[in-house]
Amino acid sequence: MKRREFLTASTGCACLMMERAGWAAPASPGPVTVGALKSFMKEGLDTRWVSTHGFFLVRNQDHLFAVSATCTHDHRTHVMGRPGGDKLVCPNHGSQYAQDGTLIRGPARHNLGHFSIHVDDKGQVVVDTSRLLDQAEWGDSTAYVKVE
Ligand code: FES
Repeated sequence: MKRREFLTASTGCACLMMERAGWAAPASPGPVTVGALKSFMKEGLDTRWVSTHGFFLVRNQDHLFAVSATCTHDHRTHVMGRPGGDKLVCPNHGSQYAQDGTLIRGPARHNLGHFSIHVDDKGQVVVDTSRLLDQAEWGDSTAYVKVE
């Protein structure tokens, strides 16, 4: 095996092992189109973008928002949640967060962030993973979209 082939194979293997252990795969930050606003009718946690883009979508009554999946303890590990579940749990040291990212139990000391979210002119929901909002900004118009 040539050096380049070895490096490619070993890097892929390491990424797979990291993903299985809950480590976040690096995703390039930026806008992610997640679908038409009218397709988010179901209440609760949507986990479809955790492994690819590092966020959960949460519908809470008429608000839809994007919660970062990156644990605030090590800033790398993805927390895990089940669709329809009410808690997000870090597989590393057991920190727990509510569905909206509020810290329930440490060792993490901070809430999960929210990503900026908006509806574009075609009615598509777009999450901007380059813009992380802290809790003081969760009520801002860029932190959620209204779902009828
Ligand atoms: S890395 Fe998440 S609790 Fe330690």
